[in-house]
Parts: sequence; structure tokens; C-alpha cells
Amino acid sequence: MIRLGVLISGGGSNLQAILDHVSAGTLDATIAVVLSNKKNAGGLARARAAGVPTVVIEHTEHAGREAFDAAIVTALREHDVEYVALAGFMRIVTPVLLDAFPMRVVNIHPALLPAFPGIHAQGQAFRYGARITGCTVHFVDRGTDTGPIIAQTAVAVLPSDTEESLSARILVEEHALFPKALQWIAEGRVTVASGATRDERPRVVVRDAATALGLGIAPSPPAASST
Ligand code: GRF
Repeated sequence: MIRLGVLISGGGSNLQAILDHVSAGTLDATIAVVLSNKKNAGGLARARAAGVPTVVIEHTEHAGREAFDAAIVTALREHDVEYVALAGFMRIVTPVLLDAFPMRVVNIHPALLPAFPGIHAQGQAFRYGARITGCTVHFVDRGTDTGPIIAQTAVAVLPSDTEESLSARILVEEHALFPKALQWIAEGRVTVASGATRDERPRVVVRDAATALGLGIAPSPPAASST
């Protein structure tokens, strides 16, 4: 059982997936607090409906990123949070947060990293003409979407896709992948091995990897009939 703090900025459909897995017993976690940087974030209502404490900390009311993150760390500590899930949290986090929760901040990104980091990743992949994209759950480090990868699901880009239809299929996979990766963490199966040399990246090891390859491939929807 882990105590999880979930950070959101928007609708919170990934938060909902996490809440659903907790209540179904497939994610061995307590959601200790849901924290939003926007007071109107739709995800706050989802948290309240689930009986989870909520906190709003508006970034606009802090002098800078570090001061904002310090307020977040205080709130997370007040709720005895062990791991932090960034579920559509649209702020760049600083070492103030990362050093308070070293290798314990987990993000969901709507692309197959290291391709298409940053914002509007689904649109980046679509406009680039990628044939495969997907989603990635990773630990957060000091770069933007550069931290050690825990799990990924590939999603095919269909000829008929629009950016919206592609984003919707990626989101479905996000909702499955994020709780799954968090459950691996809750089971104590996830460790980060530092690189053997300075140039080698730290990498995630998932114990019992035969059943947790950390790679999924989403089934493509059937091709539209031409008749
Ligand atoms: C998701 O696509 C997530 O990957 C991205 O922002 C979106 C958040 O959606 N970072 P929601 O708020 O969880 O519905």
C-alpha cells in the first residue's frame, strides 16, 4: 500500500482511472490528496466525489516556480504522501519538488518518449507523420519528459485519424497504463538502477519482468468498411 498524492490541472480523466482502480482493488494505494494548480479543474470534483481530500495551490499566487513547488511539497507532506503522480499537471516541476520526493514523482506523457516531449505531444506526433505513437509512464527528473521510463503502450496512427481521434485512443491507453505502472510501484517491484558509466542513463528495472514487460501495443480499431 502506498500513499499517493495526485497533481492535476484539468479534467482529471487519468485521476479518475486511478480512483477507479483503487476502488476496484487493482491499485493498492491510498489517494492521500489531490492537488490542483487551478481552482476550476474538473478533476477536483472527481476527487471530492470519491471522498479524497483536495488542495488548490494556484501558481499565479507564488513568486516563482520554486516558491510554488515549496507550497506543493508542504501540502504533500501534510498528507503523508510517499509517491507523487502527475496526472495532467501542466506545470514544469523544479528540484524543490523532485528533491523532496527523489525518484518518487511519476508522470504520464501522451507519446512514446523520447519522441515528442513537451506539450501537445499527440499533435506533434500526428503532424510529424509518425505511424506509431502512444503513451509513457516515467519517473520525473530535471529535464522535460526525460526521466527513466517505467512503461509504455504503443498506439498506431491510422490513415483515417485526426489529431482528436488519435488523442482519444491514446487517452484510453493512458487510463490503463498509469494505474498499472503505479501498481508495480505499490508492489515494490520497481527500482531505478543508476548507469554503470557517467554516460549511461539510469534505467528502471521491474522485478518479475516476465509478467511486466512494460510494453503494450494497443489493438487498432477495425478498418472502416468501404461498402
Ligand atoms: C493527458 O493526455 C496527459 O497525458 C497529459 O494531459 C492529459 C490530461 O488529461 N499530460 P486528464 O486531465 O487526465 O483528463
